[in-house]
Amino acid sequence: MNSGTRLALVTGCSRPEGIGFEVCRQLAQQNITVLLTARDAAKALALAAVLREQELDVSGYALDIASAQSVKAMARLIDERYGRLDILVNNATGSTQSPAPASAADLDSAQQVVDVTLFGTWRLIQETLPLLHKSEAARIVNVSSSAGLHGDPVLGLSGQWAGRPAYGIAKAALNALTAKLAAELRDTDIKINAVCPGLTATHPGMAERGARPLAEGVRGIVWAATLTADGPSGDFYRDQQLQAW
Ligand SMILES: NC(=O)c1ccc[n+]([C@@H]2O[C@H](COP(=O)([O-])OP(=O)(O)OC[C@H]3O[C@@H](n4cnc5c(N)ncnc54)[C@H](OP(=O)(O)O)[C@@H]3O)[C@@H](O)[C@H]2O)c1
Repeated sequence: MNSGTRLALVTGCSRPEGIGFEVCRQLAQQNITVLLTARDAAKALALAAVLREQELDVSGYALDIASAQSVKAMARLIDERYGRLDILVNNATGSTQSPAPASAADLDSAQQVVDVTLFGTWRLIQETLPLLHKSEAARIVNVSSSAGLHGDPVLGLSGQWAGRPAYGIAKAALNALTAKLAAELRDTDIKINAVCPGLTATHPGMAERGARPLAEGVRGIVWAATLTADGPSGDFYRDQQLQAW
């Protein structure tokens, strides 16, 4: 990596159809060096190899954000090899919860969702902040969802979609964490925003139900990851449009 090249870390990149993989591709296309990570090292290595075949500067690593040990090891590796981090995209999310309304949700499963989506992301931000402070213009993107908004009448917190409440609750908490960190980092060069990709075709059948193509959903995440110095911090965006949450 040249000294002028930016370095990005993206979490939750275990599938070629997933948002994380496409974020890595679009960032690397901007000549950014990308660390593509997934819980399963073999998947991360294989997906990074696919992007390297496209002459993109992408390396694969194992990273489980629910594991303090794994997160610390990743931060140490970045410190030793690169000495700083410019972009952190927190794309990983917990989603093992079975469908049930909040009144009947299985709380062990709900806790797992919150542990990954909120505390895993929080842990990774804490561990990488010293490296992000070494960047001249660090950007953090928390990939969020309309499920964590009050304003979405269908998928949102007060919407008609009762299933998997822990997901929306965890994303609402992630939005709150975004605001808290932005306030704390107000006088630094670090910007942090939450971004919803919108309904994006990451699983079979989703396109038929109106989900947008992967490249389109990811564009707003890459925008927030590459904001210029006059860009916003502490907000929630979809398609580069500010959303009330
Ligand atoms: N697709 C949509 O329409 C849509 C809409 C709004 C928001 N989003 C958000 O977009 C992001 C990506 O979603 P996606 O649709 O691309 O689905 P996805 O491929 O299932 O992405 C979730 C990723 O999180 C990973 N993950 C789970 N637990 C982890 C942990 N402890 N440590 C590290 N990684 C972990 C999963 O890895 P494993 O394979 O190992 O479980 C997976 O790679 C998520 O934050 C999601 O909430 C998606």
